[in-house]
Amino acid sequence: MSEKLRGKVAVVTGSGRGIGRAMALKLAGDGARLVLNDLDDEPTMAVRDEIMALGGEAVACCGSVADAGFADRLISTCTGAFGGLDILINNAGYTWDNVIQKMSDEQWDAMLDVHLTAPFRILRAARPVIRALSRADAEAGRRVVRKVVNVSSVSGVFGNAGQANYSAAKAGIVGLTMTLAKEWGRLNTTVNCVAYGLIRTRMTEATANADAAIQVEGREIKVGVNVDLMAAMERGIPLGRAGTPEEAAGAAYLFCIPESDYVSGQTLLCTGGLTGI
Ligand SMILES: NC(=O)c1ccc[n+]([C@@H]2O[C@H](COP(=O)([O-])OP(=O)(O)OC[C@H]3O[C@@H](n4cnc5c(N)ncnc54)[C@H](O)[C@@H]3O)[C@@H](O)[C@H]2O)c1
Repeated sequence: MSEKLRGKVAVVTGSGRGIGRAMALKLAGDGARLVLNDLDDEPTMAVRDEIMALGGEAVACCGSVADAGFADRLISTCTGAFGGLDILINNAGYTWDNVIQKMSDEQWDAMLDVHLTAPFRILRAARPVIRALSRADAEAGRRVVRKVVNVSSVSGVFGNAGQANYSAAKAGIVGLTMTLAKEWGRLNTTVNCVAYGLIRTRMTEATANADAAIQVEGREIKVGVNVDLMAAMERGIPLGRAGTPEEAAGAAYLFCIPESDYVSGQTLLCTGGLTGI
């Protein structure tokens, strides 16, 4: 294990799979203690076991980030288990696409809830903890920089047909990031965002099965990208391929390490070189 984040306490939402899982493993590999979260218990516990088998520390706080009361439960699990909070990554989410004329209010609200309202509530719940910790650091003459990383998408930065709900939420998180960077600078806390392009996860897995779907909070949500479409999308990426979850986690990691202590309010494109869609 590396020592770069030794003893830091990191919360990663949606860390049972995909990018969030890779983020949790990366941070744990650098010595951070993890609070894991996912809608689904089983993959979350598997990530927890994986971290512990490597000699790390992790606890789970399962449930939907969109549930009322979840934010307080997440932050109190974190402070209860580890007595601190150094890194907070708002990653949990999924897509539920449709063109605007076919998009229901339920579809719109679900995306705003998971990608924007949930991070807002989690950050609001974290604020008193971060303030108390930063005050204690100041009194003890320590300079500790805390880190928030929010997750956006090229859909939120450039727009994407069929994703009015998702792109609105993912654009919103960019605004929330910039505002909190201004509010939390005095708390020695940086607030940044990573906007992903095409990353190979369950959300975007190339599939020949047009009916591939997952269950999210009792709703059946279509997932995956048709094999031919995936190949066409990859051809349009300067690096010529989709990213891996580990590469995606690497971009968020840059905002978590001490080398980025003076970077705040930024949105980093992790897209294999794509600068528009
Ligand atoms: N994969 C991509 O190409 C891509 C591109 C841009 C942005 N993103 C964003 O990256 C993030 C991670 O997505 P991924 O690609 O790793 O997908 P994924 O499906 O592999 O993993 C997402 C995890 O979040 C969990 N989750 C979903 N809703 C949740 C909720 N309400 N509460 C708690 N957990 C919940 C899921 O159960 C899943 O384990 C998402 O915010 C997504 O919008 C992904």
